[in-house]
Amino acid sequence: MMRELTNKIVFVGGKGGVGKSTTSAAIAWEAALMGHNTLLVSTDPAHNLGDIFNQKIGGKITHLSRNLSALEIDPEIETANYIKGIKENIKGVVHSGMISEVHRQLDTAKMSPGADEAALFDKLISIILEELSNFDTIIFDTAPTGHTIRLLSLPELMGVWIEGLLEKRKKTNENYTQLLNDGEPIEDPIYDVLKERQERFAKAREILLDPSKTSFVFVLNPERLPISETNKAIQLLDKYHLHVKSLIVNKVLPDDAEGDFIIKRREHEKQYINLIEKTFTRQQLIYVPLFANDVTCKQELEEFSIYFQEG
Ligand SMILES: Nc1ncnc2c1ncn2[C@@H]1O[C@H](COP(=O)(O)OP(=O)(O)OP(=O)(O)O)[C@@H](O)[C@H]1O
Ligand SMILES: [Mg+2]
Repeated sequence: MMRELTNKIVFVGGKGGVGKSTTSAAIAWEAALMGHNTLLVSTDPAHNLGDIFNQKIGGKITHLSRNLSALEIDPEIETANYIKGIKENIKGVVHSGMISEVHRQLDTAKMSPGADEAALFDKLISIILEELSNFDTIIFDTAPTGHTIRLLSLPELMGVWIEGLLEKRKKTNENYTQLLNDGEPIEDPIYDVLKERQERFAKAREILLDPSKTSFVFVLNPERLPISETNKAIQLLDKYHLHVKSLIVNKVLPDDAEGDFIIKRREHEKQYINLIEKTFTRQQLIYVPLFANDVTCKQELEEFSIYFQEG
């Protein structure tokens, strides 16, 4: 299989319905066959990995077959856990008279746009930091493009934000220390919580930004909208120093398909293939044909992953 697809971490992104889950499953299956201990992670609320592998997968890492495990993340559950975690963190930090007000605010925050992403991102970071030592390869079947990019840009934004908070916190603490504690440092649990988060983000970011560890692969179809949206996504990721080196062009009409309609359709498709080659000059293009059937079992995954072979 191509090197980009056998990295330690592979993110598979793209517009709705282009074939992300199929591609992720095919990469994972092939990696497992190669002998890599592989974890397939779906962050898609409407996932269908369980169908493909004929086994129920849930919120816990589930063993599917030799060298292959999977995990389905439910954003709603993650958001609830995330808020619960914050509530735990602030126990003992916030004055008890304030707790109910803080909880009320947190419950409102749970509904706000962005809470899902923040929670999901926290979970992704946990998986990266905690499971990377247990697996050779982790494949992420990520949610549609726009969200994914926002998730991936979060560490940088959060890094700056937390740094500011830490600075402020340190100053306040130093003032108090002078005033109250005869210059002896006093413990600051909020500082510790923020510091720990910052360190986790920094560690995850280092891994994500290292092309020898992490690959970003986009799936698209030879159609107008997926091409322009993929291009936008790649440019945005570039800004965050996350470089997409491989594109899977999926559902290309096969050469041997016949009939007037198909021949006409293939002519039409050719202009999009040309556009793809003109637009994505810095990416390796991997073409996968349209199959006569949906890809629903391991046998079909293997037929799919034939196109991932080098040369
Ligand atoms: N090359 C192909 N030939 C035929 N069917 C395909 C091909 N690739 C994917 N499919 C089928 O297309 C459908 C959509 O694929 P898939 O679920 O992988 O897309 P997705 O990008 O994950 O979608 P979503 O955005 O909804 O998560 C599935 O039924 C899948 O079996
Ligand atoms: Mg999917």
